[in-house]
Amino acid sequence: MELDEGVAVAATLRFSTRPGVTPKSLVGTAIAILATMTAPSQPSGHAPMPGAEVLAEPMRSRWSPTVFDPDHTLSADQIATLLEAARWAPSWGNTQPWRFLVAERGTTTHDVLRTHLTRGNSTWVPRASVVFLGGTQVAPDAEGEGADNPTYAVHDLGQAAAHLTLQARAMGLHAHQFAGYDHAAVAAALGVPDWVRLLTGIAVGVPGDPSIASERERGKHERERVRRPVAGFAFAGRWGRPWEGAR
Ligand SMILES: Cc1cc2nc3c(=O)[nH]c(=O)nc-3n(C[C@H](O)[C@H](O)[C@H](O)COP(=O)(O)O)c2cc1C
Repeated sequence: MELDEGVAVAATLRFSTRPGVTPKSLVGTAIAILATMTAPSQPSGHAPMPGAEVLAEPMRSRWSPTVFDPDHTLSADQIATLLEAARWAPSWGNTQPWRFLVAERGTTTHDVLRTHLTRGNSTWVPRASVVFLGGTQVAPDAEGEGADNPTYAVHDLGQAAAHLTLQARAMGLHAHQFAGYDHAAVAAALGVPDWVRLLTGIAVGVPGDPSIASERERGKHERERVRRPVAGFAFAGRWGRPWEGAR
């Protein structure tokens, strides 16, 4: 029995002690729990990692592939759904300071991005089905509006990026965020106003055949995912003293 099944069955058994719960409703409950905990499926790669099995989907199976299928495309509807996820991210004072440039293969936006990617990103990013370039409002716009808090504007772009990334996973897609491109050159080429600071990109697609990638890319695609332990970043009582519940 997989871990997920064990958790689902345990949850169902706990539930079964309640009055009015029939065997039929129990089976339905177990199936519903299993469906929530196992979807979406993990086609390849390193997630989940040790410790990550306690997470809910879509976080549990998220990781950043470097080998995308260059023939896979997304419909306008799917891209709109990804942007909708970013749209509903929380933000400081609901200021929603994030902005995205959508780069689909064969468009000017994509051509410009391709020209200005760092060497390490220049091979794998263009193979993604779509790339979102993320910027955030750091100064008042042409009408003198916005940018009440540029510090949180950076935080909020990250939050919107996380929403989009997790929505991608929930749709059976993968996302790989990146910072490695010439932000100033892309901003100049695409007319990004100076009150917006371009910071990152999010490449979204489905994993491709690793044999199309260089050895270096395959290494990155397959490398072990590591994290510092919770005790290394969650403190209580005094800075640096691990919160006692940390595993
Ligand atoms: C702000 C930011 C910038 C990043 N820049 C790059 C990049 O330029 N190139 C790259 O290959 N990956 C980049 N990454 C991906 C990280 O290397 C990756 O998320 C990290 O190694 C953890 O791996 P995981 O996402 O598979 O858990 C970036 C991620 C973030 C959030």
